[in-house]
Amino acid sequence: MAVLVTGGAGYIGSHTSIELLEAGHEVIIVDNLCNSDKIVLERIKELSGKSPKFYEIDITDKEKMEVVFKENKINSIIHFAALKAVGESVAMPVEYYSNNLISTLVLFELMKKYNVKNFVFSSSATVYGDPEKLPILEDSSLSVTNPYGRTKLMIEDMLRDIYYADNSLNIAILRYFNPIGAHKSGIIGEEPNGIPNNIMPYITKVAVGQLPHLNVFGDDYNTVDGTGVRDYIHVLDLAHGHVKALEKLSENPGIVTYNLGTGRGYSVLELVKAFSKASGKEIPYKITDRRPGDIASCYSDPTKAEKELGWKAKYGIDEMCEDSWRWQSQNPNGYKK
Ligand code: NAD
Ligand code: UD1
Repeated sequence: MAVLVTGGAGYIGSHTSIELLEAGHEVIIVDNLCNSDKIVLERIKELSGKSPKFYEIDITDKEKMEVVFKENKINSIIHFAALKAVGESVAMPVEYYSNNLISTLVLFELMKKYNVKNFVFSSSATVYGDPEKLPILEDSSLSVTNPYGRTKLMIEDMLRDIYYADNSLNIAILRYFNPIGAHKSGIIGEEPNGIPNNIMPYITKVAVGQLPHLNVFGDDYNTVDGTGVRDYIHVLDLAHGHVKALEKLSENPGIVTYNLGTGRGYSVLELVKAFSKASGKEIPYKITDRRPGDIASCYSDPTKAEKELGWKAKYGIDEMCEDSWRWQSQNPNGYKK
């Protein structure tokens, strides 16, 4: 089955491409490399023993994208490509709306023209806003507080409208919690641009001595130790979740939405402790003010994905930390030599 993977050179897309190739799918990656490196493609080949087809194209360019649809018999699309930094989206909303929404609309138009029926969308736990109830179920109320999050919720809404108009489509909306970890080989992983916003890449950069200490954003939340609690999930578990979602779509389920999380929350200080144990490195930290827009706790109820997809996260926090550390310690400068 030919799967178009947009953003397949990125963090989650590269791990998922390997999983898809290993499951016997034909993979076509489209990525403009605005937040990734071409070398990832060689590593995908090295790890899976198979070469995905690759197009270096900006998905907002409909003419160039049409060539991809003409040249390949695409059965399904997994749409990872997006800009994803929350702070940047507040400073550059036009770029975020333009990139994330136009690229998705181009895909919808071409899907219709080339009769592609299956679509998997990378959504985020960010669409739950500050959750009213924990753990979070898929039917919880939705709200967003920044342009990045709004692009995710807008695309979810578009997908619900598009399905309403055409019931022959099969759509999986996957809401990821907090992806961390890396491939077991340590040769692909997460490489954020500049100083990381998310906690795990920040911790690993402290561990390799590129940043002096971690700033812990607030210790006065109503949580186990006052620091923020999140549902960290191994990127390999997420990758597997996409293969399971494709299997589900082949049963013609219509539009379906799943949380991809472990169901277990860890505080910032618990994560730091687990990372120190996994890496043998002390992580110096300072408690600072809360980060504007942050919430106290966010963790999933993943039972719907378990029941309907037969998917369950198998890696715990220790392995997530070990694998993040293996990637960072073997590649202190990421994909750059
Ligand atoms: P990433 O930045 O590593 O990967 C995204 C890829 O998309 C990059 O390789 C980038 O070059 C490409 N891209 C962006 N715009 C493009 C365009 N117009 N045309 C072609 N390629 C383009 O990000 P990631 O962490 O792998 O995230 C993948 C998806 O998952 C994103 O949609 C993101 O919003 C979503 N998500 C990520 C997280 C997370 O914490 N990483 C959490 C929830 C949801
Ligand atoms: C962030 C995004 C969210 C996105 C998610 C996954 C914000 C406000 N939200 O959420 O939209 O879906 O990433 O990509 O950016 N922390 C520190 N010090 C740091 C970094 C983080 O203490 O240097 C704390 C945070 O306060 C939080 C936890 O670590 O409690 C996790 O933070 P982060 O990795 O940024 O993820 P989210 O806040 O869940």
